[in-house]
Amino acid sequence: MSEKVDIFDTTLRDGEQAAGTRLGSRDKLNLARQLARLKVDVIEAGYPASSPEDFQAVQTIAKEIRGPVICALSRAVPADIEACGKALARARRPRIHTGIGVSDIHILGKFRDPRYGKDLAEKKTTIIKMAVDAVKLARSFADDVQFYAEDAGRADPAYLFEVLEAVIDAGATVVNIPDTTGYCVPEQFGGLIRAIREKVRNIARAKISVHCHNDLGMAVANALAGVKNGARQVEGTINGVGERAGNAALEEVVMALRTRSDYFGVTTGIETREFCRTSRLVADMLGMAVPPNKAVVGGNAFAHSSGIHVDGVLKDRETYEIMRPEDVGFAESRVVLTARTGRAGLRARLEKLGYKLSQEELNQTYQRFLLVADKKQEVFDEDLIAILHDQIQPAPELYQLEYLQIYSGTSAIPTATVRLRVKGETKQGASIGDGPVDAVCKAISQVTGTSARLSRYEIRAVTSGTEAIGEVTVHLEEDGRRVMGRGASTDVVEASARAFINGLNQLALTKGSA
Ligand code: KIV
Ligand code: ZN
Repeated sequence: MSEKVDIFDTTLRDGEQAAGTRLGSRDKLNLARQLARLKVDVIEAGYPASSPEDFQAVQTIAKEIRGPVICALSRAVPADIEACGKALARARRPRIHTGIGVSDIHILGKFRDPRYGKDLAEKKTTIIKMAVDAVKLARSFADDVQFYAEDAGRADPAYLFEVLEAVIDAGATVVNIPDTTGYCVPEQFGGLIRAIREKVRNIARAKISVHCHNDLGMAVANALAGVKNGARQVEGTINGVGERAGNAALEEVVMALRTRSDYFGVTTGIETREFCRTSRLVADMLGMAVPPNKAVVGGNAFAHSSGIHVDGVLKDRETYEIMRPEDVGFAESRVVLTARTGRAGLRARLEKLGYKLSQEELNQTYQRFLLVADKKQEVFDEDLIAILHDQIQPAPELYQLEYLQIYSGTSAIPTATVRLRVKGETKQGASIGDGPVDAVCKAISQVTGTSARLSRYEIRAVTSGTEAIGEVTVHLEEDGRRVMGRGASTDVVEASARAFINGLNQLALTKGSA
């Protein structure tokens, strides 16, 4: 049986320390619920002594969330620890996380006041006493106490071992070895964890945790080196958010441990299919978008574009994928059509859209496709449909917008009236809705009698300023066919109506009813 590694999520504490971000207690509770669905072992809910709002957030999470251990942070200061004790009072499984700086740089920089000692040696003795007192006090509030040796990555190892021995004797159940400044390299950090296991007399009584920052882009690699050398808890955040360059990204750590279980020989209890959902929630709440090329959860993590790759993946997914997209919460792999995609990828996409072409038709379509692809970053399904219909079955637009009127306001029920031109005839409809965009889509559905479902709606400003052009993209689905519609206008409701009608025209083309 392989050993289990605990996953300690600190998105709500260290993650929220990312510059320019702030989470309210309602957002924190929602995120904590999602972290419980992800089945993390520990949620670090906040730092109660830092503000009344953080205290309240930790208290609410402690009361509401069942499953994971709920942890709160403190300095090695009695008032901080007491605040943790109070905030965690209603948690089923509380943990207090207390600690202090242990590197010479931290000791000399943060404890320069002579009351901590006249020189480094005296200050080091004081720090050990403060650490031990903090752990003892924390143990009076909770049976589970985690000690962090801040800046352990740059500390004198002999002193670090001494501190760890003292806090374990005082009752620490977990010892956290942070690379606070992201200074370490994997071999060295792994060596430090191994040395702790070999040199700290009472280490068998505590679990070793690793907490790595990403200043040199090595947080995940360092955390994994820690596991390889005996750490049995990894701390990190979703999407790697956090102070400065952030923390180890938990989705990367967990998927590395799982995908390379042959190498690491450990398991986690994480419900990995919740990763995408959790990642999006964190990105939305913190206003920090996930880069498309982000490992595991980025929009391109399972997207294939070049002809060689697309051909390989279509024949056997494992040629270019080491994880299954479904395992992290994506619906499926994606083939992005670009000038490099090749005929095999184009044919597969056309078949998915319901078109079976002869070799001759495919060759012609491919030539037109290349002309479009050279001008655009990505060729969308509706571009392909436009190419096809222009080429093999030219057809006019079935629906055209003639007139649109919206009635909306803070105390009005949003109402839309639309008039469309359909096969030379004018048809009118009206509807109320949950907002003006919903009302207009319902009015259009009424006029066209469509059963298409709107599965995605996106809006972006193409230019800047309040008079900016809004470009709306909608994804529609009907009877297993999926299309994308686009519309642009300085009026976002009109842009939405145009996008919806554009999508319905694409659907009509794929049905051949235009
Ligand atoms: O990076 C760090 O050292 C920390 C500690 C408070 C655990 O976040
Ligand atoms: Zn940290």
